[in-house]
Amino acid sequence: MANVTVIGAQWGDEGKGKIVDWLASRADAVVRFQGGHNAGHTLVVGDVTYKLSLLPSGIVTGTLSLIGNGVVLDPWALKAEIEKLTGQGVAINADNFGIADNCPLILPLHRDLDGLREQAAGAGKIGTTGRGIGPAYEDKVGRRAIRVCDLAHLDALDAQLDRLCAHHDALRAGFGQPPVDREALLAELREIAPFVLQFAQPVWQRLNKVRKAGARILFEGAQGVLLDVDHGTYPFVTSSNTVSGTAASGSGLGPNSTGFVLGIVKAYTTRVGSGPFPTELEDETGQRLGERGHEFGTVTGRKRRCGWFDAVLVRQSCAISGVTGIALTKLDVLDGFEKVKICTGYRLRGKVLDFFPAHAADQAEVEPIYEEMDGWSGTTAGARSWADLPAQAIKYIQRVQELIETPVALVSTSPEREDTILVRDPFVD
Ligand code: IMP
Repeated sequence: MANVTVIGAQWGDEGKGKIVDWLASRADAVVRFQGGHNAGHTLVVGDVTYKLSLLPSGIVTGTLSLIGNGVVLDPWALKAEIEKLTGQGVAINADNFGIADNCPLILPLHRDLDGLREQAAGAGKIGTTGRGIGPAYEDKVGRRAIRVCDLAHLDALDAQLDRLCAHHDALRAGFGQPPVDREALLAELREIAPFVLQFAQPVWQRLNKVRKAGARILFEGAQGVLLDVDHGTYPFVTSSNTVSGTAASGSGLGPNSTGFVLGIVKAYTTRVGSGPFPTELEDETGQRLGERGHEFGTVTGRKRRCGWFDAVLVRQSCAISGVTGIALTKLDVLDGFEKVKICTGYRLRGKVLDFFPAHAADQAEVEPIYEEMDGWSGTTAGARSWADLPAQAIKYIQRVQELIETPVALVSTSPEREDTILVRDPFVD
């Protein structure tokens, strides 16, 4: 049996939540390896809808759920999310949930800085989720982060606080803000520390142990490859590596453990926040995709930008992340369109490109080259086998598969866990 790494192959919001939930019900452990509470996963199980931002999706099924060192953790957001889920009847305890003790914390000063910088950025605004993700990752690589393990040593935090505040006070002064209130920060950390520490552990060790015992591990990515800080639409990206390779470094297992890479791909394209989006439709069709697909952010409630499927981008994401197979989601949103379009290349200043160029100006200027196909009038919603799909929908899936040079492993046809067509079980070698 293989392990599985799940990543978004577009700009996030591909419907990962449902797929991860479906896989989690068959896994022995689920681990988040990057991002923070900027992610938003909606899981629908029976009549109940769960909204997760930080917790691994396995938590809903009671599967061992771990937050790896690659995540940035806001302890207050964690507490709020755990309380919300507990209120919905989900059991979360030290047996089924753990947090890496070397995980960096998101502090209130990170949230402040995220907001201040976005406000001051003018046309250069990234459109972040405002959760302090970028500043927290900066402090991690700047070697001034406060980490989960520090919560057990708050009386010995002076040197770290000096380093952290020397940096932040200078930045805050530039924004006309008072210096960090160290006493208040320490008091807040003291209050939250016991809550976090009950779950803190060497996650790398726990994972290595369960792996040796034959557990099936699901590595749960957040955001999407096009938001990767190296490979995405820089600078309009998140501050972590979202590609599958991060599953190893962000959890504490070697790359030989990460298994089948399942890329989640929406049957069309969406994006929240600023940045280039070649197939964006600012017309009635875009509006229709947004309404039918309920395209509003789980985390911020922002309306998502919508457009046709971009095969160039997804081919690139699949190559960069070594995607073994894709899960195609939200096909039913295309039901009833007379014609559907797929972007197969770009035109840039008279040249045809079969890849997405690295420079933001080129990314903004490329014009999509479309292939048009007949749509389908029947419904794909709720289909559980190929026989349930209209012939033209099958043709669409086949064309997507050809263009992205990656096979389809699953097709998801509604938010319900069981409404899935399984072509290849990612857990089976
Ligand atoms: P940050 O991650 O809050 O710094 O935001 C950086 C960019 O990533 C913005 O464009 C956000 O909208 C986008 N982003 C962050 N998390 C998600 C997500 O889970 N889904 C979709 N977009 C996201």
